[in-house]
Amino acid sequence: MNRSEVNEILRQSSAFIRSFGYAMPPFADWDAERMGRAPQEAPEIIARRLGWDVTDFGQGRFSECGLFLFTVRNGDPADLAKGRGMLYAEKIMISRAGQHAPMHRHNIKAEDIINRGGGDLVLELFASTPDGSIDAHVAVTVPCDGVSRTLPAGGHLRLGLGESVTLVPGVWHAFWGERADVLIGEVSTVNDDLTDNVFRDPVPRFSSIVEDETPWRLLVSDYDDLVRATAGVAGG
Ligand SMILES: [Fe+2]
Repeated sequence: MNRSEVNEILRQSSAFIRSFGYAMPPFADWDAERMGRAPQEAPEIIARRLGWDVTDFGQGRFSECGLFLFTVRNGDPADLAKGRGMLYAEKIMISRAGQHAPMHRHNIKAEDIINRGGGDLVLELFASTPDGSIDAHVAVTVPCDGVSRTLPAGGHLRLGLGESVTLVPGVWHAFWGERADVLIGEVSTVNDDLTDNVFRDPVPRFSSIVEDETPWRLLVSDYDDLVRATAGVAGG
């Protein structure tokens, strides 16, 4: 993706999120220069990969295949292993109308996906076979706000305003907005987007960025370069 396209999506997304009265944390407003000091001054933002994230899953068709995300908080995988501590994460996301997040599952993360506003959120769901691949034959049962719902393999679950679904590890899911763009909440166990997304059709989780403009905000996928640059400066 071009940085100019990313900048435009981030500006639109910030306005969309705030239009629902959702207040973003202070670091959402840090410009690239301020975030550039985060490795020294706020290393947890870097280590937990908090902040702005936009992806077209490498397909170059953001309006059809893509997702906007902002990680608000994220725990520590080491705490997950211990079974106590900061075991949780929160994201705010946007699926535009007709914009698909591709079919995937997680090995570790359990997540609630919540329709926080806008249009309908539609999820296509499959159960896993014992080896973790898509089971195209068996029905899938998911908890939705305390009510168990069962769909045929590949069935579409439609979430209206305020509705949510709990996806445990192994439940395959793709999702998109219908009628209008959707503001999506995600409440989950610790999130690791580097290792815990298994896609049906292998796609990159993060887009490569062509720098045709100065970043308005850094993306979480910029943090590795930031840390390398900081280490280079520190090391002389
Ligand atoms: Fe997911």
